[in-house]
This record gives sequence, C-alpha cells and structure tokens, in this order.
Amino acid sequence: LAEGPLSGKHILLTSGPTHEPIDPVRYIANRSSGAQGTALARALMGLGASVTFVTGPALVPPPAGASVVKVETARQMHEAVFAALPADAAVFAAAVADWRVVDASDKKIKKDGSGRIAPLEFTENPDILAEVSKSPQRPGLVIGFAAETNDLIAHAEAKLKRKGCDWIIANDVSPETGIMGGSENAVTILTAAGADALPRMSKDQVAQQLAARIAEALR
Ligand code: C5P
Repeated sequence: LAEGPLSGKHILLTSGPTHEPIDPVRYIANRSSGAQGTALARALMGLGASVTFVTGPALVPPPAGASVVKVETARQMHEAVFAALPADAAVFAAAVADWRVVDASDKKIKKDGSGRIAPLEFTENPDILAEVSKSPQRPGLVIGFAAETNDLIAHAEAKLKRKGCDWIIANDVSPETGIMGGSENAVTILTAAGADALPRMSKDQVAQQLAARIAEALR
C-alpha cells in the first residue's frame, strides 16, 4: 500500500453495470464500462486508502491491490456492500439497474410459434446508495454519481436530497458526449455548499481530482 493522506482509511467503492437475468442465457444491462470507478479506486489507493471494490460485470479489469468483490445483479451488489461496511467513505460509481425481471425463468425462454412473447414484468431494485445513506452504519462521507442525459444539475440536486448522500458527482452521458464507455469525463461536484463544474478531462484525471477532495474531506 502507498503511504499518503488516506493511509488507514477504508473506502468502499461500487463500480460497473449490473446484469439482471431474464432467463439463464439472457440479461438486461447498461453501457457502463466501469472505467471511472476503476480509475477512482486506483487514485484512492495511490493516496494510501485501502479499497473494497464491489464491481458488476465491467469491461475493464478491476484495480490491482483492491479487495475485489465481483457481483452480477443489483441485489448481490446490495448484499456485498453491506457486508463490506464499516467504511470511512463510500463512493457509488456503479450504474445499478433500477429494475429487474420479477420472475426470471430458470429455463431458456423459447419461441412458441405465436410470433409474440409474453411481456416481462419488472420490479424496482433496492437503492443501495439511499439505503447506505440512511443506515446506522453510514460512513462519514457518502458519494453518489448521477449519470443523466438532460437537466443534469436539476436531476443531480434532487438526487442529493432524495438519496441522503453528501456529494453527487454529476455527469452528462448523452450519446454525443462519448463519455459512457469512453476515456474522458466532464463532471460537476454537487455538495450542500454548491456546484463545482470541472472541465472535461481524462477519467484518470477526474479520479485524481475526486480522490484529492475525498482526502481533504476525511482529514
Ligand atoms: O437514481 P440513479 O440510479 O440515477 O442514482 C445514481 C446513483 O445511485 C449512483 O451513485 C448509483 O451507484 C446509485 N444507485 C444505487 N442503487 C440503485 C440505483 C442507483 O446505489 N439501485
């Protein structure tokens, strides 16, 4: 472990997408690559933190040196996160699926010749960030992300209040930005004190900026 301002601090990080099964061979997912969460884990470890990294099926390999917990679904991520507490800070960079199929089939769904498929019924997944924020084991610093395609700041401000976290890292993931799945990011950090818009930079640089601010906040 590196020595630094975060030495002795345990930071819990979620990253990547989740996969929500439809049947044993099909799932619902999203375009998260896990790149920003992985970069943030590396930056935090670079400042001395010990990191528990709970990751969905990401495209990028998990950070070396972290305590990695691999999960697939939102419910598994929920369980892994609570199992990893207590922590000095928790950062929820994962793009958790908001919904899952109610009764995923245990056999592959087959065409029945009718030309139609029975509609899938969905139910909401647990909101891990909101639950941790309200939990008695709440870390002193809880940070959420808000990936939006429109009305970014308004949605992020509402999220900060609704979820009960301390900071929201808001980013515009409209397709034309190339941010989701890309190597750059442009984030706005929202706290009770206001909004701080960082210029577009590499995900590694965003991670370093965020890690430095986290170290400042935990000092
Ligand atoms: O509500 P929305 O999904 O946009 O909120 C994004 C933030 O909440 C992210 O930090 C994400 O990791 C977290 N989240 C979560 N559990 C969910 C949904 C979102 O932890 N089920």
